[in-house]
Amino acid sequence: MKRPVIAVVGSSMMDLTAYADVLPGPGETLVGKQFTTGFGGKGANQAVMAAIAGADVYFVGKIGKDVFGDSFLENFKNRGINAKYVERDDEPSGVAHIWVDGTGENRIIIIPGANHKIDKAKAAEAIAEIPDLDIVIGQCEIKQEVTLAAFKAAKTRGATTILNPAPFEPLSDELIAHCDWIIPNETEYASLGQISANILLTEGEKGVHHLNTGLRVAALKVTPVDTTGAGDSFVGAFASKLHEGAEVAMKFGCAAAGLSVTKKGAQSSYPTYEEIATLS
Ligand code: RIB
Repeated sequence: MKRPVIAVVGSSMMDLTAYADVLPGPGETLVGKQFTTGFGGKGANQAVMAAIAGADVYFVGKIGKDVFGDSFLENFKNRGINAKYVERDDEPSGVAHIWVDGTGENRIIIIPGANHKIDKAKAAEAIAEIPDLDIVIGQCEIKQEVTLAAFKAAKTRGATTILNPAPFEPLSDELIAHCDWIIPNETEYASLGQISANILLTEGEKGVHHLNTGLRVAALKVTPVDTTGAGDSFVGAFASKLHEGAEVAMKFGCAAAGLSVTKKGAQSSYPTYEEIATLS
């Protein structure tokens, strides 16, 4: 079977993560347990998982002319992701400051930096040019006008579009009209209103629910240590398996996400193809 060709138009971030049993309140200082630096950004996370799950992946994005940018390029290379459409900017690379508590729940502040400098015309050109393109994935850590331009270019050539509306921001009617699949969590879904795309609702420890067909797939039963990047691993794995049908893709995505929460970090927590396949 042909490997799917997927383009992720999205963000790269360096995740600077502090782990503590309890997170501090306003004005409070606490002693934490661990600090890590790891590759993140919703777009890059989804691209990495899509590559693990068997797709040929292109990343379309912008990074800084700094050491984080250098390491993002090295990471894309190591992960087998085509970075031909990754440009560099005078703005610094994107950074995410993350706090993770003892239950694995996180709080995140992102500083988008170069991610907000992606040129919409160049993103559309990339999507028009990538050979044999099957799927384009977008999120909301880059400017919405860029995602819209990329999705328009995708629909012009008959590619499938998947939007993960995270972190949530109001979506234009025009963008929604160019989405084949929207994958929100419960909070994001509550803000979406009536839409006609396929909606795949991610419900955390309960699993996922395809609202259009009623199909549900349960999440793995695991003890989470860090949920950062779990939603992204679902999106990347789902997209890579969509050519085998929605149910197969949902099961593969749930296995990937379930395994990812048992380890720390975003991309650093992602399982291998074989580990996912055993549980899906
Ligand atoms: O979805 C998780 C991601 O959100 C993290 O990797 C962080 O970079 C933020 O973008």
